[in-house]
Amino acid sequence: MTAHTTTLKIDDKVVDLPVREGTIGPAVVDIGKLYAQTGMFTYDPGFTSTAACESKITYIDGDEGVLLYRGYPIEQLAEHGDFLETCYLLLYGELPTPTQKADFDYRVTRHTMVHEQMMRFFQGFRRDAHPMAVMVASVGAMSAFYHDSTDISDPYQRMVASMRMIAKMPTLAAMAFKYSIGQPFVYPKNDLDYTSNFLRMCFAVPCEEYKVNPVLSRALDRIFILHADHEQNASTSTVRLAGSSGANPFACIAAGIACLWGPAHGGANEAALQMLQEIGHVENIPKYIAKAKDKNDPFRLMGFGHRVYKNYDPRAKIMQKTCHEVLGELGIKDDPLLDVAVELERIALSDPYFVEKKLYPNIDFYSGITLKAMGFPTDMFTVLFALARTVGWIGQWKEMIEDPSQRIGRPRQIYTGAPRRDYVAMAQRR
Ligand code: CMC
Repeated sequence: MTAHTTTLKIDDKVVDLPVREGTIGPAVVDIGKLYAQTGMFTYDPGFTSTAACESKITYIDGDEGVLLYRGYPIEQLAEHGDFLETCYLLLYGELPTPTQKADFDYRVTRHTMVHEQMMRFFQGFRRDAHPMAVMVASVGAMSAFYHDSTDISDPYQRMVASMRMIAKMPTLAAMAFKYSIGQPFVYPKNDLDYTSNFLRMCFAVPCEEYKVNPVLSRALDRIFILHADHEQNASTSTVRLAGSSGANPFACIAAGIACLWGPAHGGANEAALQMLQEIGHVENIPKYIAKAKDKNDPFRLMGFGHRVYKNYDPRAKIMQKTCHEVLGELGIKDDPLLDVAVELERIALSDPYFVEKKLYPNIDFYSGITLKAMGFPTDMFTVLFALARTVGWIGQWKEMIEDPSQRIGRPRQIYTGAPRRDYVAMAQRR
């Protein structure tokens, strides 16, 4: 809603700009008509001061370390709810009643199998392909397998595509894992809950019974809740931008997965564990702290810092607790990586460099140790992030498609290349 206007003076020109207020968080200056009124663009690389959309889904207060899904604090959802309840909340805006929850669980469960032909598609990949490469390709390929849910102007097809992706992502992720280790694919089992089913598809083999450990299943389910959405981050903005052109939902989510893969974003959990392994021992920490502080060294402490959180990432606190629970359940008493992580965190939280720059541990700092203890190899970490974030991407994509004011996203630029010049024939070039 527009609360008031503010004025902007550029040289001798004064323009009135509407100021819009959200329910919480900073107000925004609406510059939509700035170009028409002044002939000027704004310049904000990295979007540090730019709101690209209006959204009712997720709210972050980075200074206070607050994360809300549809108004509910992440701590409460992680403590009391399950992942599919969070999915329902993100998609529909309210917590489900018992009947709604049962119906939603049923609908997701009934979509977990993938088209049998997809098995053949998987077999075209090299065994050593990174599972994120396989995920980008296989989710994009869903638009070739599920043509009947690619018409974005049809609300029914949008709903079917959404359910298909939430339901099939664990199946595809488990297939990517099984393929990489040379084991047969395990079909989903619909009497298991979402996360137990995923664990079974990852770790069961046809020659023996697999019993899901409820502590690990609950811990992974909580990890999924923590990763389910995070406002307008790089991959979500990618999904929105791809979707703004009218691209089909499978293609949009594949674009989001590709963006998530980067080490500054979802790939940080893999990078954080590799860093802990490289540090190896508590006595090596000072050397790495010095490297992280050295302006001439590109090394960064992975799992530290965040564009929005300038306080402890609320997800990191829950992740740290979950990490201890998982290691306790598995009887891992002396994990040298955990020792390194705890000491690194202690030093970084008291070192003036990190304190002044407000660099706190983020969600990725403890997730790697936890997932490794559960039996996932490092290159699967970002895949698990993608699995959980799918619902956030879909919720944000749906919100955008259903917004009547939605237009194609088209940023502008400040051009600093050569001005107009005439073509020079090859023979005359020196
Ligand atoms: N280690 C050492 N120094 C750091 C780090 C770090 N991890 N992160 C930021 N800095 C310094 C940086 O050098 C800069 O210093 P100066 O002001 O002297 O130039 C200052 O802090 C601000 O950094 P920035 O790069 O301008 O901040 P940003 O908001 O653009 O980047 C970030 C945020 C997450 C990309 C960055 O903190 C980073 O690279 N962290 C490590 C990767 C990581 O853990 N990413 C996971 C993010 S959480 C999961 C997700 O949402 O995907």
